[in-house]
Amino acid sequence: MYKYDDAYNQQIEQSQSMFRVWKNIPAPVRGEMIREFGNVLREQKESIAQAITHSMYKTIRESRGEVQEVIDMCDFAVGLSRQLYGLTMPSERPDHRLQELWLPLGVVGVITAFNFPCAVWGWNFCLAAICGDTVVWKPSDKSKGVAELMQSSWAEACDRQGKVHFVDVSVVLDDSVHTGIAMCEDPRVSLVSATGSVRMGKEVAKSVGARLGKTLLELGGNNSAIVSEKADLDLAVKGCVFGAVGTTGQRCTSLRRAFVHKSIYKAFVAKMIVAYKTIKIGDPVDENVLIGPLIDEGAYYTMNFSIDRIRAEGGKIVYGGTRLNIEGDDRVYVTPCIATAREHLTVMGEETFAPILYVVPYDDLSVALEMANSVRQGLSSCIFTDSMMEAELFLRESYTGLVNINAGTSGAEIGGAFGGEKDTGGGRESGSDAWKNYMRRATSTVNFSGMLPLAQGITFV
Ligand code: UN1
Repeated sequence: MYKYDDAYNQQIEQSQSMFRVWKNIPAPVRGEMIREFGNVLREQKESIAQAITHSMYKTIRESRGEVQEVIDMCDFAVGLSRQLYGLTMPSERPDHRLQELWLPLGVVGVITAFNFPCAVWGWNFCLAAICGDTVVWKPSDKSKGVAELMQSSWAEACDRQGKVHFVDVSVVLDDSVHTGIAMCEDPRVSLVSATGSVRMGKEVAKSVGARLGKTLLELGGNNSAIVSEKADLDLAVKGCVFGAVGTTGQRCTSLRRAFVHKSIYKAFVAKMIVAYKTIKIGDPVDENVLIGPLIDEGAYYTMNFSIDRIRAEGGKIVYGGTRLNIEGDDRVYVTPCIATAREHLTVMGEETFAPILYVVPYDDLSVALEMANSVRQGLSSCIFTDSMMEAELFLRESYTGLVNINAGTSGAEIGGAFGGEKDTGGGRESGSDAWKNYMRRATSTVNFSGMLPLAQGITFV
């Protein structure tokens, strides 16, 4: 037996016994439950958004967007619950059928980060649930309250459907690191889907890998934009501003590095500074505020540390990067920072979870692409250009999981598969065929010939 504490053990067992029931409920009926969950979330959107803003200080506008992301996932999953298609292949043997079956996986463990207290769980939960899995969730210790709200919304959906016993399809675990570690080591958890730092992801991969379990990892991003001389400059500036300062630079998709053609470099930096000056920083519940506080003092410390490194490596801080005191509010406010450098500095290889944007000039697209691809992370990238040739080249060469043309690096829709390459962990969540991660594939041969012909023409007695 495993040496987990009683509360944890009990919750995993609860999830396991729910799985034994839930997996045999027809997928479209499971979808019906998720449809109801979406209805409840629509009604509770504002109160959940407020809770998000209060827990991790995302602006209220963005918090509403986050709840909407879960609602969109519900809609997507409802449709998908009738589309869990498997292939049928022609068999080489007469009167045989060869097909693949997609079957529920088991208990899925979800580890989420502070910056998206419910959306990333929503990506996992909605898909896992319609696929017939049950979900245990270790939320961030910064936003356990939001996890509890999600759980009560799910309970409400079950109640409205007259199916209170389905509530255990979702179980919220303790928010301690210890619980995350237990989940990774625990073979009762079939899949661990984790979002967070590269360092955390490597630990998860090692631990789950040691027991040959499945992982779905969405780790660091160090996302880049290329702004070509053939870009609509104002559009590029808008896209870069939202990417760099949205969620106070604390999205995994946040824009961190901009490579700007030398002919428009000065104009770009000047326009960015003008834009940064007009952005309202303050209490995130204020409807007009676009930048709220950083999550904590630790985030400010890392931001400062990176700023010192930028200077030490020969870069220049051309705007912001300072602490901002707001009377009567002891949270950590900063002015977003723009740093310029002549080349790709070492510090740019690391993801600093704060609003620092590095801007570097380039004169040849291939050099810009090389700089963009030179980091270990591979989540999101974009190019601003009106040239079809540049856009196509970029799509082929940019080594990231999300590649955008004339749209920023952050703010992906749920319909596409979300995730990235290299140190980002390789996982794909949310849309497209990401549902396959939450099921096991069984290949099946059905013989209705009354004989026993063998494959590859083998004869055996
Ligand atoms: C994250 O920061 O972990 O594309 C997820 C985006 C959001 C999701 C970000 N839809 O920016």
